[in-house]
Amino acid sequence: MKISDELAFAIASVTEVAALAAFDWVGKQDKNAADKAAVEAMRNRLNEINFQGQIVIGEGEIDDAPMLYIGEKVGNQSSDYKLDIAVDPIDGTRMVASNEHNAIAVLAAAPAGTLLQAPDMYMEKLVVGPAAKGAVNLDNPLEKNLEYLSAALNKPISSLSIAILDKPRHQHIMQILRNFGANVIAIPDGDVLASLLAVLPEHQIDMMYGTGGAPEGIISAAIARALGGDMQARLVSRTQAKGDNIQNQLLAEQEALRCHQMGVNIGEILTLEAMVSTDNVIFAATAITPTILMDGISHDSYSRTANTLLINGHNRSLKTINNRYFN
Ligand code: FBP
Repeated sequence: MKISDELAFAIASVTEVAALAAFDWVGKQDKNAADKAAVEAMRNRLNEINFQGQIVIGEGEIDDAPMLYIGEKVGNQSSDYKLDIAVDPIDGTRMVASNEHNAIAVLAAAPAGTLLQAPDMYMEKLVVGPAAKGAVNLDNPLEKNLEYLSAALNKPISSLSIAILDKPRHQHIMQILRNFGANVIAIPDGDVLASLLAVLPEHQIDMMYGTGGAPEGIISAAIARALGGDMQARLVSRTQAKGDNIQNQLLAEQEALRCHQMGVNIGEILTLEAMVSTDNVIFAATAITPTILMDGISHDSYSRTANTLLINGHNRSLKTINNRYFN
């Protein structure tokens, strides 16, 4: 059964309240306070909505996250409608803390059992728009993917733009991309927004590639699924993403255990279908600080204004919601 428009709008209001709460912390150099404010606002709003929700992607495991932990029930439970909920109250906590562009509050929702539950660890991701669906594969060498992408989009490799997180683990990949002539768009943080831009045809990014958070990966898969794009991913252990030292080895052991419990395998290719097994998926994002797609929260002495993007996979629609709240 399709997610009703009423429920979809209610879901959009969840990222809106999170962004408004996070805005109070923009530029205050306190990532944790910003995150806490957004999490609390998101959870309170979720619990007002008529549905039965379960957090599949959240703030972490139950022992580490007091709110919006994986498995937490949300919604006011008064309706029979059951949804999987994937949240990232702030994608770009560092940008909020230091008042930089591109921090967003995001959420994906789909009928219960249709979003992959993945532990809070790293994930290698390859995201493209509808025109390149099926053209690229994580098993291919990067240069082959560039060739296939170039053929699918009918433009030379020198005109392709690939977004990638600007992290030490990606320096060699950026070098390879440049050696093959592609344009590298190195982003300091925020790979959900980069994935969204890769899926939307009118933007400069043709592919988002690289290793980032798995939670952000599942939310990006919701975008790709909803808009007819494509994505492949692979869970990556901490040692591989962040270096092989004793601390990371211990974390990697815990990750392996969680993967085993959740029935997912590190290193195995996850198709879009495996991550989001329905078109009936909703994605909402509200900009906290300005983005290329929507303005961040703005305020004057009378009001505050929030801009939210609401994507509905059921009819492949994208709405922008501009809400002004008077004091
Ligand atoms: P947070 O706002 O949750 O810190 O995430 C920002 C982010 O850049 C994500 O978009 C990305 O997936 C992840 O961090 C990458 O992690 P790391 O900074 O550890 O490489």
